[in-house]
Amino acid sequence: MPLVTGNDLLTPARENGYAVGAFNTSNVEITQAIFEAAAELHSPVMVATSQSAIKYAGLGNIRAIVENLASETGVSVALHLDHGTDMDAIKSCIEGGWTSVMIDGSHHPFEDNIDVTRRVVAMARPRGISVEAELGRLVGIEDEIAVREGEAILTEPDEAAEFVERTGCDSLAVAIGTSHGAYKFKTDPRLAIDRLEEIASRVSVPLVLHGASAVPADVLELAERYGAKLGGARGVPAESISEAIPHGIAKINIDTDLRLAFTGRIRQVLQESPEVFDPRKILGAARDGMKEVVAAKIRLFGSANRA
Ligand code: G3H
Ligand code: 13P
Ligand code: ZN
Repeated sequence: MPLVTGNDLLTPARENGYAVGAFNTSNVEITQAIFEAAAELHSPVMVATSQSAIKYAGLGNIRAIVENLASETGVSVALHLDHGTDMDAIKSCIEGGWTSVMIDGSHHPFEDNIDVTRRVVAMARPRGISVEAELGRLVGIEDEIAVREGEAILTEPDEAAEFVERTGCDSLAVAIGTSHGAYKFKTDPRLAIDRLEEIASRVSVPLVLHGASAVPADVLELAERYGAKLGGARGVPAESISEAIPHGIAKINIDTDLRLAFTGRIRQVLQESPEVFDPRKILGAARDGMKEVVAAKIRLFGSANRA
């Protein structure tokens, strides 16, 4: 099956109240884990690559792996550039077979963000490639800042409407209290669902939730049992994700939970089977762990049997 675009996957997701998982990859095993879970659950999926992941693995290698797995498995998949900030890197993806790109201008002032986003839309649209943009800052609401200041970094609904209108972006990543990585909250996790609701009432394009990893207790426990030092790691609870999806969240980004599963399983094999030195036994165990994570997300996001 040829790759599909971001719009092909996200428009029906927003219309029908489910979300498509966008899982970050940087190697064969992660990509296989994503495809195996998606194929078994008949789920559409996005394979996401950051600029640094592309540098690490090689643009042609990633494209070849994803295209091959798409044709072998029949999974409905978009190949997505995550957090594009460099115009040359974005152009390489647009010209290199990616079917969805993110321009992350969220660190720019509003007008500059509009400007860079419009430039990417102008590059991508003639090729039918979808564009995700971002507005607001992905910082945990209570992360080192008072709640009132925290509110200021959340996506502002009127600005979001103006931004989408003026840029023509296809989907919009919003800041509602999530952040990247394994240390999202110092106290009780809290997402600004009321803010999301307001944004969703003004913006009709699919909304995107970054920093959505849960840091699942079982995954964390396994990694720590085998020596990982992850004290204080805390993610977004499943209930918050379930609450967000009916309010327009149609794409949910997961990287950290795959990294944690990968690390835990590798630590386990190396510690329990010190005689093992076959990379396939080590990375194969990691792949199994990541596949379980992807499958759990697909079920939670409601995208199973939507392919
Ligand atoms: O949001 C960022 C992703 O987790 C990718 O991170 O730049 O380390 O590949 P990375
Ligand atoms: P996590 O770090 O929560 O997995 O978020 C990943 C992400 O947003 C990638 O763009
Ligand atoms: Zn992100």
